[in-house]
Amino acid sequence: MAEQHGNREAVAEHRGTEALLAVLDAADRMPGAARLRARSYELLSPVPGSTVVDVGCGAGRAVAELAGCGVRAVGVDPDPRMLAAARARWPAAEFREAGAEDLPFADGSVLGYRADKVFHVLQQPERAVAEARRVLGPGGRIVLIGQEWDTIMIDSEDAALTRAIVHARADLLGTPHTGRRYRNLLLDGGFAEVTVEVHTGVFTGPDTLPLLTRLAEPACASGAVDRDRAEGWLAEQRQRAEADRLLVAVPFFVAAASARGRGRRPGTPARAGAGCPR
Ligand SMILES: C[S@@+](CC[C@H](N)C(=O)[O-])C[C@H]1O[C@@H](n2cnc3c(N)ncnc32)[C@H](O)[C@@H]1O
Repeated sequence: MAEQHGNREAVAEHRGTEALLAVLDAADRMPGAARLRARSYELLSPVPGSTVVDVGCGAGRAVAELAGCGVRAVGVDPDPRMLAAARARWPAAEFREAGAEDLPFADGSVLGYRADKVFHVLQQPERAVAEARRVLGPGGRIVLIGQEWDTIMIDSEDAALTRAIVHARADLLGTPHTGRRYRNLLLDGGFAEVTVEVHTGVFTGPDTLPLLTRLAEPACASGAVDRDRAEGWLAEQRQRAEADRLLVAVPFFVAAASARGRGRRPGTPARAGAGCPR
């Protein structure tokens, strides 16, 4: 019985990872996604030969792209299923199993830290910031990227229901407003030169539908939204996708900062910055 239960959980977890991968792949195909990643690499301004970590790396695209900047890029994720997908997609890239709260790096041994769409799943983002501060060496750069869940915009005939679904989904996350907190998190964590930008991702293709299902399903399961109404809402979105009338806009915060006060180490090569793949 216990074994059966364990198998069911494993199957559910596998499906969960597959579903998340489908959403992440759709996000990566969004027209502005490559630009947003390139902006994050520019803000990291990686030093050739140094170690750069992509925390919560998921399927690993950024790790492979960062390796193209001439750094030792390491992807870190606590989910072994995600890491298996990453290793299958990018066999030459380096991945380690670990969480943001306990990184497998010595103090001050890393010069770049990136986390994309990760901090909103953390129960204690402050701990992750402290851990980032620990592993980053003199002049090290941190870049955090993440969507604002409460302000996702979706064109729909039923604006009130759309708001209810979006807000109910956001409320189910541990920290749905982490994006707007990035600046204060970094300042409180002892980082300097903190900058914040907001970029809006625009989704219009049918591969946006899994994202909408991932908003409506949990909102329904939590009891915040009636199932029939949510089904009707999803049906409208499917029709819109078929007729090329789908419009979803998601604000992404991008915050960057430097490990305080020590500048570039003497003898370190100039940062690659704009030289990274676009
Ligand atoms: C929404 S995905 C983003 C993946 C990738 N960064 C991207 O942009 O495609 C969030 C990732 O964070 C990972 N994650 C969950 N808890 C984490 C933790 N405590 N520390 C680091 N990563 C975590 C998940 O396994 C998942 O791969």
